[in-house]
Amino acid sequence: PTPVWLDCDPGHDDAIAILLAGYSPQLHLLGISTVAGNQSVEKVTENARRVLYAAGLAGVEVVQGQGRPVMRDPVACAEIHGDSGLDGPSGGPLLPPVPVGAGIGPHSTGPTGARCTDTDISAPAAAGPLQPRGVVVMAERIAAAAAQRAQRVHVVATGALTNVALLLTLFPEIVDRIEIVFMGGALGTGNTGPSTEFNIQVDPEAAAMVMRSGARITMVPLEVTHTALVGPEVATAVLGAAPGGATPFRQAMHDLLHFFAKTEVFDFVHPPLHDPCAVAYVIDRSLFKASHLRVDVETHSVLSAGQTVTDLRRTTGRAPNATVCLAMDVAAFWRLVLDAIAAADAR
Ligand code: BDR
Ligand code: CA
Repeated sequence: PTPVWLDCDPGHDDAIAILLAGYSPQLHLLGISTVAGNQSVEKVTENARRVLYAAGLAGVEVVQGQGRPVMRDPVACAEIHGDSGLDGPSGGPLLPPVPVGAGIGPHSTGPTGARCTDTDISAPAAAGPLQPRGVVVMAERIAAAAAQRAQRVHVVATGALTNVALLLTLFPEIVDRIEIVFMGGALGTGNTGPSTEFNIQVDPEAAAMVMRSGARITMVPLEVTHTALVGPEVATAVLGAAPGGATPFRQAMHDLLHFFAKTEVFDFVHPPLHDPCAVAYVIDRSLFKASHLRVDVETHSVLSAGQTVTDLRRTTGRAPNATVCLAMDVAAFWRLVLDAIAAADAR
């Protein structure tokens, strides 16, 4: 299987991305790092732990990463994901706390520890200095896996690119050991800004650093994720056809998608599911139509900081730096997601 490190900010769609990465036979999920975005890094770390526990993936390590963008003030997205970052249909956290002794974080044992998160999750949040320790752990785990398997590790990023930018800056040699696949950016219309997508808008400087790093990069923008719509057939399939009704796990997954349906609507018939699309690319890139293009990130503008300026017509003459996904086999995508939910449910 392809070794994968997931950098995320769960987040309802990040939760499904975790499930897809953890239960796809084509992938080996090495670990998870968290980054501030949908909520504070403390909250999204707690959410990652709850998702792993609920999904029966307790063996997957969680590393708490950056609590703030590299240069800007932290933001959160409570209007989409709720105060906890992973709220349920009646408000409050969707998933129950992880029981004490379940073996999922939260305390750091440092870079050489067998299992760790970077910091105590009760530590104060956000606007303090950048804390490289989480990135150090990330680098150590990724380098070890790449060396052991003589294979590049796919770093799938479904939040702001802060951790990934620091990883490439502090450990430049890692560039030859990874491929980055990120959900983010837009070729045209944005979601949290007229031309900006949330993950890139949160930390434009980090995204610019990544795009200039020389790494192998694939961008999965809104134009693709806006085709992965959670319609009624998907909701029904998620619940499953068990004679006694849906299992508690399937019901939780359904509620998770349903919450997303209530909050991100725009002009879609049904709401989109963003982050698992990036995981699906690593599972089977033949499901995607893509083009090798130049992508630069606007960092100076007030109106469009975080815009992923994509040279679709190759007008700048600048060398391509990313594979940009343009379309996806949506039916095949949902089969992957539903199979992962079924596998998690049957464990
Ligand atoms: C992205 O923003 C977040 O709210 C979602 O988790 C996703 O990663 C979509 O723009
Ligand atoms: Ca996300």
